Amino acid sequence: MSGENRRRWDAAHARAAGGETPPPAPFLVEHVALLPVGRTLDLAAGAGRNARFLAGRGHRVVAADASRVALAEIRRRCPDVATVQVDFDHPCVRPASVDAIVCVNFLDRRLFPEFRAWLRPGGVLLLDTFLVDQRQVGHPRNPDFLLGRNELLERLAGYRVLRYREGPVEAGSAVHYRAGIVAVRPQN
Ligand SMILES: C[S@@+](CC[C@H](N)C(=O)[O-])C[C@H]1O[C@@H](n2cnc3c(N)ncnc32)[C@H](O)[C@@H]1O
Repeated sequence: MSGENRRRWDAAHARAAGGETPPPAPFLVEHVALLPVGRTLDLAAGAGRNARFLAGRGHRVVAADASRVALAEIRRRCPDVATVQVDFDHPCVRPASVDAIVCVNFLDRRLFPEFRAWLRPGGVLLLDTFLVDQRQVGHPRNPDFLLGRNELLERLAGYRVLRYREGPVEAGSAVHYRAGIVAVRPQN
């Protein structure tokens, strides 16, 4: 992540700091029972709405993000969650060291091989973010951050898919276009 991007994220998190924790992502709430309760990596955790929810369900959560401001907010809101400052340009997670990975509203396609390496065999990935159709209705519009139709199914070929949904999702009074998956890492 460039220094400019980091400052932008730090500033965004600083503006929201000190407020109420927003509710966890609906796709996570709906499917949390499919995740093994164990060591769970919340990737690009932001200010920790999902990490806090997972910790409340008994997960040993490690929240990873590049923003120091976000991580400080997580420690304030949920002391049970371990935090680690990671730039996903240079990720460093031990192979087969996590039972579950949760990644919401974040896409870095370079990480798909890493997910498979970091999860133990039988570990579960939950990923939920914006679909390419989202650009017709709002942000994000950068194709780097938008999943193609069926892209998750293609990138996670070999995983056992427990849930997949793609298309319009109600978000308050708006409609967002999203893709979400819960999938089990194969044994080898
Ligand atoms: C939209 S927020 C997602 C927050 C959270 N997952 C949620 O659902 O509330 C994206 C987060 O990704 C982090 N991020 C962006 N690029 C990153 C990178 N290269 N390495 C680590 N974190 C990054 C930002 O700091 C930000 O907190």
